[in-house]
Amino acid sequence: MCGIVGYIGEKDASQVLVKGLKRLEYRGYDSAGVALMNGKMMIEKGKGKVSNLEKKIDTKKLIAKIGIGHTRWATHGEPNDINSHPHVSESGNIAVVHNGIIENYNSLKKKLELRGRTFKSATDTEIIAQLLEEIYTTTKGITFEQAIQLTLKQIVGTYGIAVVSLDQQDKVYVARKGSPLLLGIGDNEMFIASDASPIVEYTNKVIYLDDGEMAVVTKDSYKVKTIEDVELTKEIHELEMGLEAIEKAGYPHFMLKEIFEQPRSIGDCMRGRINPEEGTIQLGGLRDVMDELVNAKRIVIAACGTSWHSALVGEYIFEYLARTPVEVEYASEFRYRDPLIGKGDVLLVISQSGETADTLAALREAKERGALVLGICNVVGSTISRETDAGVFTHAGPEIGVASTKAFTAQVVVLIMMAIKIAMEKGEITKKKAKKLIQELDSIPEKVDQILQECDEPIQKIAKMFTYAPNFLYLGRSYNFPVALEGALKLKEISYIHAEGYPAAEMKHGPIALIDEMMPVVVIAATKHTNDKTISNIEEVKARKGRILSVMNDDNKDVKELSEFSIQIPTTKDYFSPLLTVIPLQLLSYYIAVNRGCNVDQPRNLAKSVTVE
Ligand code: M6R
Repeated sequence: MCGIVGYIGEKDASQVLVKGLKRLEYRGYDSAGVALMNGKMMIEKGKGKVSNLEKKIDTKKLIAKIGIGHTRWATHGEPNDINSHPHVSESGNIAVVHNGIIENYNSLKKKLELRGRTFKSATDTEIIAQLLEEIYTTTKGITFEQAIQLTLKQIVGTYGIAVVSLDQQDKVYVARKGSPLLLGIGDNEMFIASDASPIVEYTNKVIYLDDGEMAVVTKDSYKVKTIEDVELTKEIHELEMGLEAIEKAGYPHFMLKEIFEQPRSIGDCMRGRINPEEGTIQLGGLRDVMDELVNAKRIVIAACGTSWHSALVGEYIFEYLARTPVEVEYASEFRYRDPLIGKGDVLLVISQSGETADTLAALREAKERGALVLGICNVVGSTISRETDAGVFTHAGPEIGVASTKAFTAQVVVLIMMAIKIAMEKGEITKKKAKKLIQELDSIPEKVDQILQECDEPIQKIAKMFTYAPNFLYLGRSYNFPVALEGALKLKEISYIHAEGYPAAEMKHGPIALIDEMMPVVVIAATKHTNDKTISNIEEVKARKGRILSVMNDDNKDVKELSEFSIQIPTTKDYFSPLLTVIPLQLLSYYIAVNRGCNVDQPRNLAKSVTVE
């Protein structure tokens, strides 16, 4: 959602903040702003990208060693200059940046208006600055820290906030409930950020704040306590990621870099976990809960977006290999229908960011009802990874492009490893079969690399033919039905072309009415056990003059003959095929979006990590 950054130390704060905001821009990019203090409060903010903000900041006028910054994804109030953060109190002495939603802002606003306060913006955030000032200036003997605690106690909703005040020029105050915040500990300097990307350049020592916690940060100290004023000793974590992981490395976009990183990210995800020679799988994060997993009567998987698509792939694979019933839920729907989940059930949540509010809410709901809660996450230290009982990290490395690519393949790899492991433990597959599967899994990075090398150019040509198509249909069967959904999602997200994914056979129950000579139909025809049926579906499309673009195994002559364009990929086991078939679809949507002049890494209206429900 929004990105928060803060700095206090000896450097020029505006430069640290702007650089940090650029790194956080994938979280939201409607508008950006900073508050800097050097004897007075200086606010610079406005609609648009961080680069616009950078141009506005006159470094000659704005030399400060303390400040906070924000890049916004609008929830309350349209993106414009006034609604941009930071928001200041009536006197201008207090500045606040905020990520989250204040649900009772209307009633608080009315009360404050009755006390004579005037509001400038249409945001819920301004309420924090105004209420804080009201409490601080009208409550006798109160410290600024206590005023923040009292303010937060009146607020209903979620927040990650950073606050600076002219009365406290050597401190930044931060607090969290529902929106991630971490502190970076430098040498005589401290950093604050929504995630590690703005910090990693300066220090690898971080502290993750938990919900209900706040911190008072000076350049050489930090004090963490609860909003109820209980002092805490927090563990200092070491960041493992390097700066190169969050830079484009010569690629024009993060998305393309992340697509091309997949041979490595898939390999990293399996490294140390599979042993192809011995035919074994070790998932250290699940060791303590393996018995419960093996004996689970069913597994419920909850996720959103692309992670939900990987969950669907997982459903097919778990049921086929491990013979464990699986239900896949939209995390956003799960908690609102009084879910039948409790003791003896397993909820598996999947999230790249580990911060998605809907997924987190599903996790908490299931935990409260007594279920074992497991997670598959990419971001180490994320809220979901810390609140689950056990889990597996995908180790795909930072994913910056808003459209998820390498996270999907890594999630599917984890699900495959889990399914094989459970199948072995349950005795559903023999050791010999498991070994064969693990050896095939081990060959996937090489096959992905082959696809990237051989298909990139042909896909660029195909993309040119379809750049201005107004609609797309994606069809797939079995393990590749979720890939059809994922291909369609990628295209809509970044090129704004309307696209729908469907199970190939379901097409004749409705979407077939859409097909005419203008309709490109992407058919994922790489699942051998449904090949004949898929061919029939292709014939149905052709009979209505639809244009077939197929993703198929390189030995599939029948499909090739029926296709106007075909993208050929190496063969693998049917249940591993999503790891290969998704790659051409990622590239296709990327090149179409680039041809249309779209902002691939930061598509309109979207944010990388959706931390509001
Ligand atoms: O971080 P998460 O995996 O929980 O995010 C879930 C979705 O918001 C995410 O996959 C979204 O759909 C992406 N933009 C897809 O490309």
